[in-house]
Amino acid sequence: MKIDGKAYRTIWRAGPAAVETIDQTRLPHELAFRRLDSLEGVVEAIKTMVVRGAPLIGASAAYGLAIALSEAGDDASLAAAYAALNASRPTAVNLRHALDDVRAVVAPLPPPERGEAAFRRADEICEEDVKLNRAIGEAGFKLIEAAHKASGRPVHVLTHCNAGWLACVDWGTATAPIYLAHDRGVPVHVYVDETRPRNQGASLTAFELGQHGVPFTLIADNAGGHLMQHGKVDLCIVGADRVTARGDAANKIGTYLKALAARANGVPFYVAAPGTTIDWTLDDGHAIEIEERSAREVTHIWGRLADGRVAEVEIAPPGTRAANPAFDVTPAELVSGIITERGVSAASKPALAALYGRG
Ligand code: MRU
Repeated sequence: MKIDGKAYRTIWRAGPAAVETIDQTRLPHELAFRRLDSLEGVVEAIKTMVVRGAPLIGASAAYGLAIALSEAGDDASLAAAYAALNASRPTAVNLRHALDDVRAVVAPLPPPERGEAAFRRADEICEEDVKLNRAIGEAGFKLIEAAHKASGRPVHVLTHCNAGWLACVDWGTATAPIYLAHDRGVPVHVYVDETRPRNQGASLTAFELGQHGVPFTLIADNAGGHLMQHGKVDLCIVGADRVTARGDAANKIGTYLKALAARANGVPFYVAAPGTTIDWTLDDGHAIEIEERSAREVTHIWGRLADGRVAEVEIAPPGTRAANPAFDVTPAELVSGIITERGVSAASKPALAALYGRG
């Protein structure tokens, strides 16, 4: 997708054993880039959310393994790099899937060949992610188009957090149907949840929709239920960090509340996620590990001051104790459908298994 008219992906090769990324901690106030050329650098970038969003975490980890193996390709180094990357964030299953994928490719090779082979596989993972999201876009586009045909009015979509192209390599999951609808002339407008505590909606989704020219309105997280009660939301589309085999979906904290409000008000609630986000080893979403992040993300907030400086300010009394679970799980029964690269699936074990030819 484009920033100021120039096409970008979120991660790209930058020399023989390095990648470059957009530093997402600096958006929307500054477009800055970060060069990653060490295992430690990649782990740090994932932990501090320089790179974030389930598919991009997976792609970054794949490159992290490649960078580590370019330095030392022996079995012990492979195991250590895998472990360090796998521990960088716990909830997005794309991380483990990408690491398993690269490890399976390089493990049979002699150590000196592993770095280059890992880079090639990481490149392929990125290309595959772009294709998956484009296909999710086609599947979700039909839902937006149908909603427009039914009402004859612009379609109002509510989304939470950033499941946009910045969270992936390109296109986004939840946003791909929106971009296609907009590009094809189906009138679409997005309610963007600000997404406290880190405000990925306000800083990232608002940024990328604005760059693409998609009409949107930023709302406080607490406004969604009210808008749904008043018939202002036609459908919700959110992303996921992990979908279980039966369709329970972990996504950014607050997603569950929107799903409850959607159910109470008869608003369809869709989860957009590729097969790489499905954890076939789990049925029950309660088993998904929920990341607990720093209390400081709740007691403080980043923003741009009137003088242009970007600064952090405290919004609670000094010393306030805060809890910061970063994700929640929406049970399958609240999900109207899962928009995948293979089409829209019911959020159920038989439907997902049939779609992916498992079982
Ligand atoms: O903590 P983050 O910003 O990595 O959380 C991101 C989300 O919750 C996204 O909705 C999810 O990763 C899907 S990205 C296509």
